[in-house]
Amino acid sequence: MRQTLVLRVAPDGTPVEHVACAAGLLRAGKLVAFPTETVYGLGADATNAAAVAAIFAAKERPYNDPLIVHLATVEELSRVTAAIPPVAWALAERFWPGPLTLVLPRAASIPPVVTAGGETVGVRVPSYPVARALIAAAGVPVAAPSANRFMHTSPTSAAHVLADLDGRIDCVLDGGPCPVGVESTVLDLTTSPPRILRPGGVTLEALRALLPEVQGPANLRSPAQNGAIEPGPRGLGHSAGAPGPQGPGHGCGPVHRGQEPAPTGTSEVREEELARAPGQMARHYAPHTRLIVFDAQGAAMLTAMAAEARAALARGARVGALLADEEADALAGLPVRVAPLGPGDDLAEVTRRLYAALRALDDGSLDLILAHTFGREELGLALWDRLRRAAGGELREV
Ligand code: TXA
Ligand code: MG
Repeated sequence: MRQTLVLRVAPDGTPVEHVACAAGLLRAGKLVAFPTETVYGLGADATNAAAVAAIFAAKERPYNDPLIVHLATVEELSRVTAAIPPVAWALAERFWPGPLTLVLPRAASIPPVVTAGGETVGVRVPSYPVARALIAAAGVPVAAPSANRFMHTSPTSAAHVLADLDGRIDCVLDGGPCPVGVESTVLDLTTSPPRILRPGGVTLEALRALLPEVQGPANLRSPAQNGAIEPGPRGLGHSAGAPGPQGPGHGCGPVHRGQEPAPTGTSEVREEELARAPGQMARHYAPHTRLIVFDAQGAAMLTAMAAEARAALARGARVGALLADEEADALAGLPVRVAPLGPGDDLAEVTRRLYAALRALDDGSLDLILAHTFGREELGLALWDRLRRAAGGELREV
């Protein structure tokens, strides 16, 4: 157990003393969760293998799922990658700082634990001022996955981070809610043509406007065909006993008392399958409560959802639903807990609210959550991907 220090900062990164304190912890090999424009990341000095190993232990994440390295400026790209093609500079110029991760050959400065032993590294320059200020003050590249327990819903607030990791990490820099709300787009530049490994905050359409040959994610095919991966019985990734920072030892500011960490050992994943498609598990970003996602929009879908809700309620189940504001009427009269996502035609707002709404319904008082996709255009693709994985890889046709 360790105490998790909570440091509050405004979205502009003030007061700088709090950012400086968190940066000092990173330099000392500690784990600091911090807000980015996408989701909260769980950061460690990317050049410190022991600190990075502690990220995997805290999250119970298998070691064969590589981490993204975060930089304060585009200029630092050549410090962490080995061979930078001209297209990477063009993408960086257009989309950085911002929610785009580029997969490039790894430089020797990045230890293998960051890249799951692979020769490529995912890199991005986040745009959220708190993240930029923290990484700049730390003066080191920062390896950071999303700051949630492995496979759970990603955090878009400091409260979400604490719900998953209180007592397991050294500090949370609480810089308010994340403005984008889903993770970065991961684009592999080591294949020709470049391919999206994970849709996210930068849309396929925006990438194609610059690079028409960009391939969409492989999982646009059906889950059964896409190399979808489930946790398996054996693998490299076991977090128990991993080396890492111990105790608070920070000496800056008031502390938030932590809790006893839960037992480790749930993070084993079949090694060869993750190597083929790291991080692309069919079940991911998932609530604990059963989730059914309808892959449609409009009146027929809402009718089907209401029928599903009625059937579940008749069985005595407690039901919740993620709905656009204007759709709430479809379940009117039914005792269903509705989490509103904002106007259905404002995909940026729906995306921003998705994880918080999912976590709000997943507080243990429900047996079933109902949701639907928002098409596959623009941010709809990232929403489709996350909702599908949150539902275990299956979507309900209407
Ligand atoms: O927006 C984001 O990307 C957030 C914030 C904190 O920056 N980070 C994040 O990290 O979502 P994580 O670890 O939860 O997801 C990173 C994804 C994983 O699917 C991982 O497999 C993939 O990126 N990835 C990282 N490095 C890779 C590499 N070298 N090759 C292929 N995939 C990689
Ligand atoms: Mg994640």
